[in-house]
Amino acid sequence: MLLFRQCHSLTRVGLRKTQRLQRPLEAVPSVLACAGSLSSRWGSSYGGQESGEQSQRAHGPNWRHALAGLVAGTGAVLAYGLNHNQAERAATSTKMQLMNQDSSQPIYSQDEVTKHRSLEDGIWVTYKGNVYDITEFVSMHPGGDKIMLAAGGDLEPFWALYAVHSQDHVLEILSEYKVGELSAMDRQQQQSVVSSDPYSSDPARHPVLRINSLKPFNAEPPPEILSDSYITPSAIFFKRNHLPVPRVDPASYRLQVEGLPGGVLSLSLEELKTRFPKHSVTATLQCAGNRRSEMNKVKQVKGLNWGIAAISNATWSGAKLKDVLQAAGYVSEVTSWACHVQFEGLDSDVTGTTYGASIPLNKAMSEEGDVLLAYEMNGEDLPADHGYPVRVVVPGTVGARNVKWLGKIVVSPDESSSHWQQNDYKGFSPGTDWDTVDFKSAPAIQELPIQSAITQPAEGTVVDRSAEEVTVKGYAWSGGGREVVRVDVSLDGGKTWQVAQLRTNDKGKAPAPSPPPGQAWAWKLWELTAPLPPDAQELEIVCKAVDNSYNMQPDSVAPIWNLRGVLSNAWHRIKISIRDDYEEDDM
Ligand code: MTE
Repeated sequence: MLLFRQCHSLTRVGLRKTQRLQRPLEAVPSVLACAGSLSSRWGSSYGGQESGEQSQRAHGPNWRHALAGLVAGTGAVLAYGLNHNQAERAATSTKMQLMNQDSSQPIYSQDEVTKHRSLEDGIWVTYKGNVYDITEFVSMHPGGDKIMLAAGGDLEPFWALYAVHSQDHVLEILSEYKVGELSAMDRQQQQSVVSSDPYSSDPARHPVLRINSLKPFNAEPPPEILSDSYITPSAIFFKRNHLPVPRVDPASYRLQVEGLPGGVLSLSLEELKTRFPKHSVTATLQCAGNRRSEMNKVKQVKGLNWGIAAISNATWSGAKLKDVLQAAGYVSEVTSWACHVQFEGLDSDVTGTTYGASIPLNKAMSEEGDVLLAYEMNGEDLPADHGYPVRVVVPGTVGARNVKWLGKIVVSPDESSSHWQQNDYKGFSPGTDWDTVDFKSAPAIQELPIQSAITQPAEGTVVDRSAEEVTVKGYAWSGGGREVVRVDVSLDGGKTWQVAQLRTNDKGKAPAPSPPPGQAWAWKLWELTAPLPPDAQELEIVCKAVDNSYNMQPDSVAPIWNLRGVLSNAWHRIKISIRDDYEEDDM
């Protein structure tokens, strides 16, 4: 319903915005050239022609995109990412330059700004001493109506939370809405209010991590160290946060369990640890966006540009979710009305909306599902970044459902209503774009498909021919507990193949016992050492894995491309070159 409403208002606002942009041009005949500049701005990415239809198409994805990003954080990244392209095109717009150079802008008092906090009266905000009328932008805001929290006031404290705003192109977009300046006195008063950084209590992180976004913190380890250890050290385990890391006091922490015949069960951390048997499961977590950067090479997608290391493997310990639900009154009759278990995190945005996700009830209750309410990672308390004090670990299931900083569990007939369950982490056809996407039409990703990637050597490595052989290493994993049974490696772009050696433990340690069927939760590391082909100057190394259902990876990215860049699992390819030793001697 919200989507529908927004869709309507977006269409309306879209038309109004076009009109609004034209008004100053009409008022200033000498800048008629601006019309051309604006036209080419919209037309350029669609072949440079400006027709009514094209203009409409050019606007379309923007509004659709805004819909897709209803929640700030991811949403903000998404929509501003898209707006960025437009803003780049617009950056030199004469119109904007004129607006910014206009020194005869009216001066407004804070009182006047404060009167504009509704669609009826107009929505005004201030930012660094300027006043903006953003009435027409509100419906397009990627963070949905959260922008209304700043209505009549200053944007700065909110932008401190969603650091994605602190980019030049966002300021360029905002500048389009400038209507005046704040009086010097009010500006002074604003400056004296110290805005606190919601990320200031985020934990320290290991410097080796490759950062995709700082606030919220998202980072992956360098691939070459990822496959050095079968169990990924917690410090370099990939980190995927949508919001600031909440600081949870273990003494006052309560886990609420709702929706079962026993009524509400509230557990302290101590009770969770002592009332239920402790289980340990070694399970790989993979973000749905792992390897998104390869999709970006085919066609731009929206989302963090993950490399191949948004995946890691850890040993998790805690209570079984099944045991806790039973303590809360679960009986088999519950399945006659409930199908889902919803999880709520304690991390929240400015509106108090928390991160959330859900999994099927049968996965939660299955004896073999191994779903944990984990309080330990690799034998120690969960680190702050990974959900301290308690997170759900749903083996075989996409990272997004492994809710960290767990505050609440609800057994329900419905999936989680969270943005991340409903309007994100879903797969679509390569033919679906932001104009046509309907998030309701696709199921939420749960089990992930078969995956493998090459961690060593790195793309572009140069090896000496005198080395005579090359060692290729990587990881392989499949969702749903399906076991990887083989990894094929090619040194010639996929023409010929060799079978890699699989490892289920660190070198020098005994291999882990074979998991029962359907419970292969952990990745396998693999390795192949092969002679360098005598005449080759360049090798295209490729890997592909096979699981015990004989699922295999697709050979290329284009046929699985999707607008959010999720489920990227094509054969992984890297190129290295071979240097003939005489090349060096010649120098
Ligand atoms: N849980 C909460 N509460 N908040 C989050 O932002 N991110 C999810 C999931 N659980 C997230 C969360 C996503 S998208 C992923 S991929 C995994 O956590 C990442 O877990 P990690 O940071 O421990 O690697």
